[in-house]
Amino acid sequence: MAKYKIAWMPGDGIGVDVMDATRLVLDAMKFDAQYFPADIGWEFWCKEGNALPDRTIKILKETDCALFGAITSKPQDEAKSELAPELQGKGLSYFSPIVKLRQLFNLHTNLRPCKSYTGNPLNFRGTEVATGPDAKEQLVDLVVFRENTEGMYGGVEFFPLPKSVFDALCVNPKMKPFEAKGLENVALSTRIMTKQGCESICRQAFDYAKKHGRKRVSLIEKPNVLRETGGLMTRVFRNIAKEYPGIRADEANIDAICMWMFKNPQDYDVLVAENMFGDIVSDLCAGLIGGLGFASAANIGDKYAVFEPTHGSAPKYSGMNKVNPIACILSSKLMLDWLGESAAAQKLETAVARVIKERKVGTYDVGMKNTTTEVAKEIAKYASA
Ligand code: NAI
Ligand code: MG
Repeated sequence: MAKYKIAWMPGDGIGVDVMDATRLVLDAMKFDAQYFPADIGWEFWCKEGNALPDRTIKILKETDCALFGAITSKPQDEAKSELAPELQGKGLSYFSPIVKLRQLFNLHTNLRPCKSYTGNPLNFRGTEVATGPDAKEQLVDLVVFRENTEGMYGGVEFFPLPKSVFDALCVNPKMKPFEAKGLENVALSTRIMTKQGCESICRQAFDYAKKHGRKRVSLIEKPNVLRETGGLMTRVFRNIAKEYPGIRADEANIDAICMWMFKNPQDYDVLVAENMFGDIVSDLCAGLIGGLGFASAANIGDKYAVFEPTHGSAPKYSGMNKVNPIACILSSKLMLDWLGESAAAQKLETAVARVIKERKVGTYDVGMKNTTTEVAKEIAKYASA
């Protein structure tokens, strides 16, 4: 019997291309796993009215962790119009299966390392000094901890606004003026945060910093405007920081960090944020290390984890064997780390770094012409040596 059981969810579009490439590498490394293909994504919404079928949830429950490619999501109206004719008009509504997975398996922590590898022509080259051909690459090595189940993406939303919800919200006098617009014209998305959720994500960020010898943890929030939710997160962060005296703890507003990150990205180390702010800041960081083709992620819970590149299904490149597999391959590296296969994880990362540095093969996004498979084969060659 194989040592690990891995749920295998390519999903839509280029999810399939990058997962095939990742499998090629894991197989070359003789990673001792049995893979369980599981259905997820747009096709299953259209055919079955459910992008995350129950059989997939069952497979996840029977495996150690999952690797996931990408899914296509579309706004509610389009989603309904693409449903199979026999499913239309039955009141089905689309939800993002990856958001659902995060909530269902309580994958409370989204870990997004953003590390630039020497030689990547897309590495950030600074904004202040010369940005011409002589500009030096600025190497970035930071890790974003994003709360993954609450906050602005918690899914508690209303449109139109029910009268009962409006009445309840009138406890706060700032709500009353919205009545004049007509409740049928009011959309409401909530930002619900708990002390437990804030504590969990902050503690993990500090624990990670301590374990990996990192010197600084920065909270990304906006407590001067989002006074209650941002205020709670900030208080929790400050309290937990006291338990880690050797680590510098500081705070930045989400808007300010978008500027500072481009001025001094090398100064940052570990970032911690609520769900939406973490989503925003991690894409920003991905831009500094070469874009979505390099950005890996892990959704981690107490007992289960789902690993995925942060990019989506990029439909225009679907099935073309053209996109960069490195984000997905690095996500499988996070999986190896989580499973405790540190030596294999290290070997895989070294192979990726070497391929980036040598620039003998590369996909279109780094200005080269190789296929997804060719890049994977080159990484596999070094990772299995
Ligand atoms: P996207 O991430 O799919 O692609 C945006 C662009 O980034 C692409 O057109 C391509 O130029 C580039 N890109 C992405 N991955 C790349 C790779 N591996 N190598 C090289 N270049 C790459 O985002 P987009 O176009 O906004 O969304 C497409 C679909 O994906 C939508 O339906 C969206 O809802 C979904 N999506 C799914 C996510 C997930 O599965 N976790 C995350 C983000 C978007
Ligand atoms: Mg995102």
